[in-house]
Amino acid sequence: MKKIVSIAAGLLAAIAANAQTPQFRIDAGAAGIPVPHTMYGIFFEDINFAADGGLYAELVKNRSFEFDDPLMGWKRFGEVEVRNDGPFERCPHYVRISYAGHPVMFSGIENEGFFGMGIEEGKEYRFSVWARTSSKTVAKKGKKAPKPAASEWIRVALCDNNTMEEDQRFVIEDIEIVGSEWKKYEVVFTSPKTDPKATLRVTLVSDTEEEPWYRTDCCVDLEHISLFPVDVYNGDENGLRMDVAQTIADLKPGVFRFPGGCIVEGSTLETRYEWKKSVGPVENRPINMNRWEYTFDYRLFPDYMQSYGLGFYEYFRFAEEMGAEALPVISVGMACQFQNEEGPGPHAALHELQPYIDDALDLIEFANGPATSKWGKVRADMGHPAPFNLKYLAVGNEQWSDEYVKRLEPFVKQIRAKYPEIKLVGSSGPYRGGEWFEELWPEMRRLGADLVDEHFYAPETFFENNADRYDNYERGGTKVFAGEYACHGADGHKFNHFNAALMEAAFMTGLERNADVVEMATYAPLLAHVEGWQWRPDLIWFDNLSTIKTCSYYVQQLYSLYKGTDVLPLTMDGKPVEGKDGQRRLYASAVKDTKTGEYIVKVANLSEYSQEIEILFDKLPAAHKLGKATCTSLHSDNRVEENTIENPDAVAPVTTDVKVDGNTLKTRIGGRSFAVYRIKY
Ligand code: AHR
Repeated sequence: MKKIVSIAAGLLAAIAANAQTPQFRIDAGAAGIPVPHTMYGIFFEDINFAADGGLYAELVKNRSFEFDDPLMGWKRFGEVEVRNDGPFERCPHYVRISYAGHPVMFSGIENEGFFGMGIEEGKEYRFSVWARTSSKTVAKKGKKAPKPAASEWIRVALCDNNTMEEDQRFVIEDIEIVGSEWKKYEVVFTSPKTDPKATLRVTLVSDTEEEPWYRTDCCVDLEHISLFPVDVYNGDENGLRMDVAQTIADLKPGVFRFPGGCIVEGSTLETRYEWKKSVGPVENRPINMNRWEYTFDYRLFPDYMQSYGLGFYEYFRFAEEMGAEALPVISVGMACQFQNEEGPGPHAALHELQPYIDDALDLIEFANGPATSKWGKVRADMGHPAPFNLKYLAVGNEQWSDEYVKRLEPFVKQIRAKYPEIKLVGSSGPYRGGEWFEELWPEMRRLGADLVDEHFYAPETFFENNADRYDNYERGGTKVFAGEYACHGADGHKFNHFNAALMEAAFMTGLERNADVVEMATYAPLLAHVEGWQWRPDLIWFDNLSTIKTCSYYVQQLYSLYKGTDVLPLTMDGKPVEGKDGQRRLYASAVKDTKTGEYIVKVANLSEYSQEIEILFDKLPAAHKLGKATCTSLHSDNRVEENTIENPDAVAPVTTDVKVDGNTLKTRIGGRSFAVYRIKY
């Protein structure tokens, strides 16, 4: 009975909804607000194994033996010793693998990768290692041994340790290590099979029967053992995993913020992200702690470190490749305030700030300075003589209180004095409102910050009720960078389900409408390994072989691909359409794109019911006759449906044609749907 009543109520509501068709009026003659190129971007942080084990294509974990436990990630067998007088000053550890004591015994090491190594059939891989040998030869009775030993051989194998085949190894390559000088050795091979969880085994090849001598003290020293797919994004040898990078690039981001997030700050200043350690030869980049290793003790990853293999040069390259503005975030000399006491805490004292400020100034020189400048030369030596044309810099991540303001001030003064063209981004603290937020905004204005970074991880109700958030923000002066946001579903639904994405879509009509206030917006976090996550929801999930685009990904992509060039006023009964009373849970915004010759209207229908809508173009310029139109829509009947490894395309946008009559588009938007209408003119 209850069910019948509720169906009847539903029908009545649907009939009522149809009684008067909502009419959206777009002022097509308006000059429009220019949509910033940076409007929809991405926020990258090494959380959830986003860098090592994720975007960074390196397959070997702890390749330089620099983790606190130098053999973490490695199995050892036979005679293996860790030594620390290697060729790379900041990564001094290496392994010595010695004769196992008998010609048929083995010494070697085996790397587990990041939850295994994802290897694909028919693809090429590049193994490399720095190595030397200090073997001496011992002659068999009556034979003459060469002195010193010319070389030793190592055997490199990719193994499937779960196979029922005779041989676990599906790739075997022998490499001759010659002489006692450290040299880099490389071998490229093609994998005959796909294995999502391969391991890499390196053994010292024992003497063979045929040899006229045997060596009781033969050994090889191995350092920086690396395995990369040859096919990486943008072709750089120290490159990015193709599918992950491409999925990010397909968002066509306007801005790329890196490297975090909280890792910028560190739990202590010693463990903050230091960009200078992340550039230069990759072999000499030191390891850093990653706070996401231990931040949540219910999701502990003791082997989660930062190799800095994906460093600032690689980030700038990636931004450049994607056509996004780079937005580096650097430490303001404060360790994470969440993880440290209120008050002065373990932060740099004001009189100790200069090295931190120098880091900021030097970073600008690294990005933009001539190849003859100190830091410009580092960039040029890495392969990029031309400047990166950096325009933005954020100082501090989620900072708050006057401790932050006091420290930010000298940064602003010195950066302004030397690089007045750089736009500076300050923080409004970790929350979307409240005391810290209210205190910081005026301070950021006083300091002349160009943008203020706002963070809001919030439940559905926030996104549903705040599409007007920026309608009444002060115009002119400091702008908004909505730097971290995501809808965190309530009632145990804190994952990437459809309804969260729909709420984000509704809220984002407010970002678009206020493009004169909001200069950039980035969903967060960006990436998560299905076996290694600490935080969710996240925009893109991946395992060792594939990526998953979440429903939120599609929302971000639709906004970014169709961001247009100018925002046009869109109203219903004279008011912006933001789900308010009488607006039937509809949200809408409109832009025109002068490059493609299109009007683009985004509509989110949060109600359960499909609704007829009328989109009317007022004051249409005479030359703008409306033509072909399409609707790309995202919908699921199931609020908590999500895209998964098993079912990656459960929810995906669908495009259909729609008909325009004169200057009006009459259409029906499905219940619980987000739709993007594109109308050619
Ligand atoms: O995105 C995850 C974390 O959320 C970021 O590191 C931090 O800035 C925020 O608290």
